Amino acid sequence: RKTVWRLSTGSDELNRILNGGLESQSITEFAGVFGSGKTQIAHQACVNLQCEDTIFVDNEWVSDEELANPKAVYIDTEGTFRPERITQMAEALGIDGQKVLDNTFVARAYNSDMQMLFAEKIEELIKSGNNIKLVIVDSLTSTFRNEYTGRGKLAERQQKLGRHMAVLNKLADLHNCIVVITNQVSARPDAFFGVAEQAIGGHIVGHAATFRFFLRKGKGDKRVAKLYDSPHLPDAEAIFRITEKGIHD
Ligand code: GTP
Ligand code: MG
Repeated sequence: RKTVWRLSTGSDELNRILNGGLESQSITEFAGVFGSGKTQIAHQACVNLQCEDTIFVDNEWVSDEELANPKAVYIDTEGTFRPERITQMAEALGIDGQKVLDNTFVARAYNSDMQMLFAEKIEELIKSGNNIKLVIVDSLTSTFRNEYTGRGKLAERQQKLGRHMAVLNKLADLHNCIVVITNQVSARPDAFFGVAEQAIGGHIVGHAATFRFFLRKGKGDKRVAKLYDSPHLPDAEAIFRITEKGIHD
């Protein structure tokens, strides 16, 4: 088994409750309402992957080769990836924004089939020599939610979502990747499925994700991240901010 490595979220507080940062060989979920910061966290992770100061290897040994020229895949299902935001965050860290963009494969998925296919293709990207170390699916659930409406489609949707999560888990394990998924939670419960819908959706995702966060808005640029239901870490909360510079305390 390969040595776990970690990537800073940008916020020391958030890193602290994660025991150091986003962890490889696992899936970290960020759920929350619109504007809670899910996409910003995803962008910051791509930037931090290119910054040596934000990659942590604890006291253990990970070969230089393993983390040399790391690349990210950003599966964007909502069309919210913003190159200029990447550049802005990179400049705040004193690194070249173009380098981040060159090392981030952005795949725009218009439906759940494309989304799943992109995840499956990552294996090929790795085989052809790309050192993919970060995989983002932003958002994990929006295509599924749009396509599989009504109770009759629920079982099929959950099965497909489960397969997608299995592919992501395998990537994380086999290639020592960090996987980040986002999940929008509606401010109002779904009119048809009600609260139960979220519980079921959460069940499939919950079993596959190692670290689960619920984000909520605080005053101004403040956000609160609550870590819950994680097997090796206590439930905890961290406050971070989203500013021009990106994610930080
Ligand atoms: P949905 O995808 O709609 O569910 O929301 P989300 O959770 O992905 O929200 P996102 O990460 O897009 O966060 C949006 C918030 O981040 C905004 O409300 C802004 O406060 C902040 N933000 C986004 N872009 C910028 C930026 O370029 N500069 C600054 N200062 N803040 C930004
Ligand atoms: Mg978003």
